[in-house]
Amino acid sequence: MNISIFGLGYVGCVSLGCLANNGHRVIGVDVSQNKVDLINNGKPTIIEKDIDIIIAEQHKLGTISATTNAMDAVLNSEICIIAVGTPSTPQGHLNLKYIFQVAENIGKALRNKEEFQVVAIRSTVLPGTCDKVAAIIEEASGKKRNVAFAIVDNPEFLREGTAVEDYYNPPLTLIGSDNKEAAEKLGQLYSKLPGEIITTDLKVAEVMKYVNNTFHALKISFGNEVGNVCSALGIDSHQVMDIFCKDKQLNISNYYFKPGFAYGGSCLPKDLKGFQTLAHDLYVKTPVIDGIGATNEIQIERAIDIIQRYPNKKLGFLGLSFKAGTDDLRNSPAVRVVEALLGKGANINIYDKNINTTMLTGTNRDYIDARIPHLSKLLVSDLNSLVQDSEVLIINTKEEEFKALASEFSDKIIIDFVRLDESLLNNENYIGINWSSVVEDQQNFVSGEDTVLN
Ligand SMILES: NC(=O)c1ccc[n+]([C@@H]2O[C@H](COP(=O)([O-])OP(=O)(O)OC[C@H]3O[C@@H](n4cnc5c(N)ncnc54)[C@H](O)[C@@H]3O)[C@@H](O)[C@H]2O)c1
Repeated sequence: MNISIFGLGYVGCVSLGCLANNGHRVIGVDVSQNKVDLINNGKPTIIEKDIDIIIAEQHKLGTISATTNAMDAVLNSEICIIAVGTPSTPQGHLNLKYIFQVAENIGKALRNKEEFQVVAIRSTVLPGTCDKVAAIIEEASGKKRNVAFAIVDNPEFLREGTAVEDYYNPPLTLIGSDNKEAAEKLGQLYSKLPGEIITTDLKVAEVMKYVNNTFHALKISFGNEVGNVCSALGIDSHQVMDIFCKDKQLNISNYYFKPGFAYGGSCLPKDLKGFQTLAHDLYVKTPVIDGIGATNEIQIERAIDIIQRYPNKKLGFLGLSFKAGTDDLRNSPAVRVVEALLGKGANINIYDKNINTTMLTGTNRDYIDARIPHLSKLLVSDLNSLVQDSEVLIINTKEEEFKALASEFSDKIIIDFVRLDESLLNNENYIGINWSSVVEDQQNFVSGEDTVLN
């Protein structure tokens, strides 16, 4: 295929060389004459392992060229890839100036082109940017999105230093699109690469790189805080983290990673506090670890806030313990929610087949007696009658019996902490604690836009 790449920095230069190496003809576009000259002389614009060899070879084969003329590049390519910089403003917003300039240039060029154009954003951009870019192209070209051109988000996951190797071994290839034809065409570009090609919504693709990099930064900071505590105790932190990483069931795994409700139970809150106190006593600062409890409290407050949007309704809690299949109420976040709502005069009934108040003993009994001493009066033994009698159902645990009854929930307001069943998401009165756009008014802004307009 004939490709144009806007921006010949780290991402653009690597993509230019590697795409050509995979059999495509690639035209690089940059505002820097120096970078354009380098490519046209068979030299890379960056220092990066193996890219010098690839650029030299492809230059010899005549598969790559570069220009400052955006019009030429668009007219001679089926796919435009945007890989210009998206630096932070001093305020921390994203500066999308370069992206929008390229969008305008592409739009102007499309005035002179009949063929359908795919425009792929490879740069890291915030959700909503693709829509904004499409609007700029529409205005500059006088042509319609998804008629004359389509916009696709295709974030780059390479790391500097191993960029070529990363390009050829991506963990996955992500394509965000509202246009099937464009997504398929872009997918063909990467058909020789290993890893799954995932096609998804534009905004999901746009947010992905931020989620990935934020997590990578979190991993590093968590490892460093653990290291600092271990070091203060004379423990070899690398031995600790080597063993930590060997647990592929709970530690390095999908487990615990799905958005939902707060954690609770007898272990996580206690052991987190224990580690924090240890660090504190050693005079080791651990702000990342200290923030975990604060985030958990926010999740409990969030749940209370959502339920309080339905005042004077009969509330039915499906599950009260901290997770399915146990009667452990200690530090169950749902107990905190029920306690807070009872204090505000809410009318609450609870069904939890695992809880029999006469059987609760020890610290479990003490915990509930201190918070909801009259729990037995709120408990209902029949799930069907709880569902029928409630106006708002609050799903707190992922019990199979709740799933089996999900079709009976349709005339209720459903507040779901556990994403019980995908079919519930279609209900008109359904609210997922943090996967439902009903919770917040949808944010249709692109951060950084103001900076650009100024
Ligand atoms: N560097 C990385 O490791 C990496 C990895 C993944 C994603 N990204 C993302 O990719 C994007 C590009 O990053 P980079 O490190 O390659 O940036 P960079 O600063 O190295 O290169 C950007 C290039 O764009 C050019 N440019 C600016 N305006 C232009 C215009 N109007 N037309 C044509 N070219 C123009 C600049 O001259 C420059 O050569 C960023 O959004 C970045 O966050 C970077």
